[in-house]
Amino acid sequence: MSAALRGVGLGRVYASGAGEVHACTDVDIEVSEGELVVVRGASGAGKTTLLNLLGGLDRPTTGTVWFDDIDATAQGEDALAALRRERLGFVFQSFGLIPILSAAENVELPLRIAGTPAAERDARVADALRLVGLADHAAQRPGELSGGQQQRVGIARAIVGRPRVLIADEPTAQLDSRTAAAVIDLVGDLVHGEGLAAVVATHDPLVVQRADRVVELHDGRVTGRS
Ligand SMILES: Nc1ncnc2c1ncn2[C@@H]1O[C@H](COP(=O)(O)OP(=O)(O)OP(=O)(O)O)[C@@H](O)[C@H]1O
Ligand SMILES: [Mg+2]
Repeated sequence: MSAALRGVGLGRVYASGAGEVHACTDVDIEVSEGELVVVRGASGAGKTTLLNLLGGLDRPTTGTVWFDDIDATAQGEDALAALRRERLGFVFQSFGLIPILSAAENVELPLRIAGTPAAERDARVADALRLVGLADHAAQRPGELSGGQQQRVGIARAIVGRPRVLIADEPTAQLDSRTAAAVIDLVGDLVHGEGLAAVVATHDPLVVQRADRVVELHDGRVTGRS
């Protein structure tokens, strides 16, 4: 079976005031359905850069990103955005929820953008909130939820479009260790129960423990795999 998401020979060079920054150099990485791959590395190692390349949020200087057998790097902006919407869900360190919308409305947003009919939106939002254990909190706004609950809303929003791949950049960094464990257990359940493929960047040993595979980054290069 081919990988749901694959990066081959990925490089990203940023032009900055201080000269060129090689944030990512010759990285090969892949993730298949039912697999949780962790990208680990110190601050500045290139984790966010790599996830942005894999998620089609940024373009590599060298190398190729494959969504299944589709060359994402060869797509124009509109086609790439459509592929991202269909196939990928993103979870962010700072949750990225809209404060004036309820949990359910936040989760519904990607479906509205995709033009999903209202009845189907309602059913899918209810499913996603149930999967993350927040069925009873649908009407609350982010400010009325705990950090862990907010991140679970973030995960519900990421999976409501039924993506094959979840990309999460330090999803537990703002959470205490007990809440972080609950959030990462949820991601593990989605991966191993629902067959999602997940790539998670983290420093968190709890997340690393639950990984099927770990890719170690240092100065933008892969320095270890386990
Ligand atoms: N837009 C940019 N322009 C120039 N340099 C950048 C840019 N974004 C990141 N960098 C540099 O690229 C390198 C990798 O950054 P990146 O954000 O990918 O690291 P990270 O592993 O995610 O770090 P952290 O754990 O702190 O989030 C760093 O040296 C950073 O300064
Ligand atoms: Mg980062």
